[in-house]
Amino acid sequence: MLRLQEIQSTSKTGRMNSEKLLEEIKSRIDIVDFISDYVSLKKSGQNYKGLCPFHSEKTPSFMVSQPKQIFHCFGCNAGGDMVSFLMKHENLSFGEALRYIAKKAGIRIEEFGPDKDFSVKREKILQVNEEAVKFFIRNLTAAKGPMDYLKKRGLSEESLKNFSIGYAADQWDALFVHLRKSGYADSLLLNARLVIADGKGSRDFFRKRIIFPISNLKNDVIAFGGRVMDNSLPKYLNSPETDVFKKSETLFAINLAREEIRKKDHAIIVEGYLDAIICHQYGFKNTIAPLGTALTSRQLQKLKILTDKVVLVFDSDAAGIAAARRSLAILCESDFKAKVLLLPQSEDPDSFLRTNGGLLFQKMITEALSMIEFLLKTAKGERTDQVREVLSMVANVRDILRTEEMLGELADRSRLNESALRSELERIKKKTGFQAGEGKKSSIIPSPRQELLLLSAVISFPEKAETVLSRLNVEDISDETIRSLFHKIKTFGDEVSIVALLENADAAEQSLITQLSVDPGFDPELADQNIDDCLQTMAYKSYEERKRRAEAKEPDDIALHNSLLEEKRRFSKGANP
Ligand code: GTP
Ligand code: MN
Repeated sequence: MLRLQEIQSTSKTGRMNSEKLLEEIKSRIDIVDFISDYVSLKKSGQNYKGLCPFHSEKTPSFMVSQPKQIFHCFGCNAGGDMVSFLMKHENLSFGEALRYIAKKAGIRIEEFGPDKDFSVKREKILQVNEEAVKFFIRNLTAAKGPMDYLKKRGLSEESLKNFSIGYAADQWDALFVHLRKSGYADSLLLNARLVIADGKGSRDFFRKRIIFPISNLKNDVIAFGGRVMDNSLPKYLNSPETDVFKKSETLFAINLAREEIRKKDHAIIVEGYLDAIICHQYGFKNTIAPLGTALTSRQLQKLKILTDKVVLVFDSDAAGIAAARRSLAILCESDFKAKVLLLPQSEDPDSFLRTNGGLLFQKMITEALSMIEFLLKTAKGERTDQVREVLSMVANVRDILRTEEMLGELADRSRLNESALRSELERIKKKTGFQAGEGKKSSIIPSPRQELLLLSAVISFPEKAETVLSRLNVEDISDETIRSLFHKIKTFGDEVSIVALLENADAAEQSLITQLSVDPGFDPELADQNIDDCLQTMAYKSYEERKRRAEAKEPDDIALHNSLLEEKRRFSKGANP
């Protein structure tokens, strides 16, 4: 991954700028503080440890090394520095991630020279979205019809403000004209999908609709939902996907619910925008909603930073029940603990709260059905079929303790023997090809061990790279990843550093670097001894290999055999394997 080059062409000055900027950032922000905003970390020996945000797990295998300013996950092999963490976490390019962190560190990027290639596209879309929000809000204050509609729907002034609700007027291109006048380029407005251009000319994407801005966890407006005020179709229109908006990764109201979800350690998930807004209005500020589709694992990955418990509040019609069942399957796979609240027929959270109030709703939340209870209650067919269906859902749960808990509950509720349920579960798992720990790759442990230890020593003590290289024939290294890394170390010479290496490493190489950074596998006190042993062993192996080849291919080359003998004499006795 040639990150630096990617953003700065290859000009020498550009490269320097980015490296200097990275250094500056790292001198101001500590990786442990930085990652703690996303993952809860605990000190564990030399490192910090937590649940990996990049794959689903119950036992922490995500490690952060403070001295090296590196993270590595032993479950999914993700690893890197602060910038790669943010890139992966927020799906950003290197330039975008760097800019974001620089901003956080209070560094003005301009000081590091004009970097045209720095990706500002995303930032610009967010900026123009922000301007559009202001425009829509101004529209709403001036529009009696839409305001009346929202009042009629029971929205308070406070909710309008909290959710930055606005209005897109019944005009062809009001927003387009306004944003253009404010200096935004046409191409940006198209990129942000605020404007559409086709045969009929350029016009606003949202027209004559109530506007609900959609934000990410960081409170950037990334998209909009627009609702008609009558029965015309489509009822809702969402922004098309952009560089900043992926529908399947987005949860409506997550920015406003963030703190409360953390505090209460559970999220309420409803189906609609209006449902979410009214829930917040009635004090249920841990409510979020997917954008009109079933829950996805990407959405749950983001939610998992805040909690792994949810209450689904769905309509109790057939569609609502089907949606709840689909969501539960995804929740199981993501190791979430879920409860389900079924509302009375033909009510949604919005209508229920406005007719019955928050107290009753709270009571229903507390009494929500456990996942097993809900599944049994809504499953079709005979009892045994129902149980089998529940088991096929439980089969997706990866966490062993949670599986046990569910089996216990299923046994209680179905009055079937727990060990019978267990064997049936095993049978289902086998049939569906599910194996415990599936999807979790083991750490890469390349052979042979000496090569790995040698690389590890250089990563821990970059200042020893030159000595090592002077005694090492890189081509002798059998492991491809390690060999390639040593080639790279060689080109850096005495300027080698983990950062520089990471910048120039591919995915497999990066993972190995970060793995060794958090777990060097040798006693640092004995580093020199270690390096010596490894070099000796490798040299001897190389000698044996060449000797073997010479004997097979050139049995008569006296000079070659003499030089090999000479080489053998140089190995000190005790150091050989
Ligand atoms: P109200 O009807 O105003 O109460 O809104 P609601 O949020 O309760 O809507 P509903 O229960 O009908 O739909 C739930 C969610 O599905 C909405 O909030 C939208 O996210 C989505 N949705 C509903 N209708 C449409 C549509 O026509 N197009 C799209 N893209 N999404 C829709
Ligand atoms: Mn509704």
